[in-house]
Amino acid sequence: MAEMAMDVAGGAAVRAEGLHREYGRGAAAVRALRGVSVALASGTFTAVMGPSGSGKTTLLHCLAGMDRPTRGSVWWGGDEVSRLSERRLAELRRSRVGFVFQAFNLMPGMTVAQNVELPGRLAGGRPERGRVLEALDRVGLAGRERHRPGQLSGGQQQRVAIARALVSRPRVLFADEPTGALDRATGHEILALLRAGVDREGRTCVMVTHDPVAAGYADRVLLLADGLVVDELDRPTAARVGERLSRLGG
Ligand SMILES: Nc1ncnc2c1ncn2[C@@H]1O[C@H](COP(=O)(O)OP(=O)(O)OP(=O)(O)O)[C@@H](O)[C@H]1O
Ligand SMILES: [Mg+2]
Repeated sequence: MAEMAMDVAGGAAVRAEGLHREYGRGAAAVRALRGVSVALASGTFTAVMGPSGSGKTTLLHCLAGMDRPTRGSVWWGGDEVSRLSERRLAELRRSRVGFVFQAFNLMPGMTVAQNVELPGRLAGGRPERGRVLEALDRVGLAGRERHRPGQLSGGQQQRVAIARALVSRPRVLFADEPTGALDRATGHEILALLRAGVDREGRTCVMVTHDPVAAGYADRVLLLADGLVVDELDRPTAARVGERLSRLGG
């Protein structure tokens, strides 16, 4: 309850302040993030865009608690993620956030249902069959639970990955170029699914994309360049996104 109050008061499901992320040290150091502050309102869809190497994946990993910033803080509602121990962070991450990758990252030797169950198993929990089937149903894959990923199309495999990310019912879903490996029509299905999660279930969604059409599904676009947020766009259209991107040379 306290957390919900914090969400309402702060309005942000995810917040970052002064994020820096450096890889390596000294002359060889790469400054992937150079002071990023963002607040992502609960129940909104944000697209993160920018040239290759601008820090999009690094930002997403830091916001999702998969990477630790060198400096700065990340908050999920009222919890300061960047202060948690590894153990507590792993626990909180499992219940609060889901992550979807461009390359699906499914286990080829496991069935669809086993893939969706895997995070719960790794956490030492007993997977609830009902929840797994419900998650598959929600992504339109009811009846496919015994198939292996190799028996599914790319779009269907990404749906399995989304079901896997959503089975713990996280409030925030992060997706790094989720349609990057898909054709436009299939990409549209995935984007519609992400959008529906925001509109119907009040989920917060953060997606990295290179595609202005994909960004058009979001409520807001953040543009990164060289480790900094350099621009943002509310209620984006593909045309306006394309124009801003071309100004960045990305
Ligand atoms: N593990 C790492 N070790 C060293 N440098 C890294 C590491 N991960 C990322 N970088 C560097 O940090 C910078 C930002 O990388 P990042 O992957 O966040 O970019 P991106 O915007 O996601 O690019 P793309 O659009 O190509 O996916 C790049 O210069 C990259 O080479
Ligand atoms: Mg990337």
